[in-house]
Amino acid sequence: MKHNIALIGFGTVGQGISEILLSKKKYLKDKYNFKFEIVAVADFAYGNCYNPKGLDIQQMLEEAQAKKKFSKDLYDKDTLTLIKKSNANIVCELTYTDLTTGGPAIDHVKAALSSGKHVVTSNKGPAALKYQEFKKLAKKNSVKFLIEGTVVAGTPIINLTRGPLAGCEITKIKGILNGTTNYMLTEMEKGMDYASVLKVAQDLGYAEADPTGDVEGFDARGKVCILANVVMGAPLKIADIACKGITKITPKDIEKATKEGKRWKLIGCVEKKDGIVTGSVNPEMVELSHPLAGVMGAKNALTFTTDMLGDVTIVGPGAGKIETGFSILTDMLSI
Ligand code: HSE
Repeated sequence: MKHNIALIGFGTVGQGISEILLSKKKYLKDKYNFKFEIVAVADFAYGNCYNPKGLDIQQMLEEAQAKKKFSKDLYDKDTLTLIKKSNANIVCELTYTDLTTGGPAIDHVKAALSSGKHVVTSNKGPAALKYQEFKKLAKKNSVKFLIEGTVVAGTPIINLTRGPLAGCEITKIKGILNGTTNYMLTEMEKGMDYASVLKVAQDLGYAEADPTGDVEGFDARGKVCILANVVMGAPLKIADIACKGITKITPKDIEKATKEGKRWKLIGCVEKKDGIVTGSVNPEMVELSHPLAGVMGAKNALTFTTDMLGDVTIVGPGAGKIETGFSILTDMLSI
């Protein structure tokens, strides 16, 4: 079967998955028999396009990268109509994350699932705010709602707990869940100042559209909420999770940690104790001998505490264009 893909959002992740699909088209067909066309693209800045036989994605990448509006296969109706009426069977929701209301992504996901289309997303809004509801809606319509890219980009976290770790009871998940702040803390330790390093993190595509969400810990809190819901099966809400970011960490604090043989890390944690699941996000001074202390730059790391394997730690990229684009690919391959 040939899959028809709609990309809703053509920013960092939308362009990342497009580049991957273009460069790996033959490999994906030969190795996985994954055949596809990108038939629809919707973007707030560049416009909406539709061609049921497949869009000229190379040209669209060039236009978007030159910050020009799309010029071919233009679609004159709104994004929700495009999602519902297009011949796409997989809708990738890749618009900006809004962890307060969910933003337009909530309506995009609802429209796609209700019209019998699979949804793959790296957008934390729908996953953190409406996971249980969308899971039910997907089941009712015999499609999938897949969210690997919402936590630690393409590094397998959610799929790891569903696949290789299935059968293990996970009682705690703890680690570094935000690439921007880990990158900033790494560079600040080398002497770079807060504002300059934040700008570099934005330029590298790690930070959210509004980086407040990264530095205040809200992005990590959203991921803790997703892990609580998806892995622990606990209906935690974002407001249930205590949260503190890195904005108050000064060069003096960094010096203090170095003197004590420690390093600052922004740590997210979700834990099940006596049947009750709690979550938190806090900056912590971690001993240099601890495995999390060696995780530098935009890398993320999570330790799963399990009943049968003890602690299992995975380290990998937590942000970036191709790294997050890969999460979309892996979920599409599982479809
Ligand atoms: N802004 C996020 C981060 C992107 O820095 O980790 C991935 O969710």
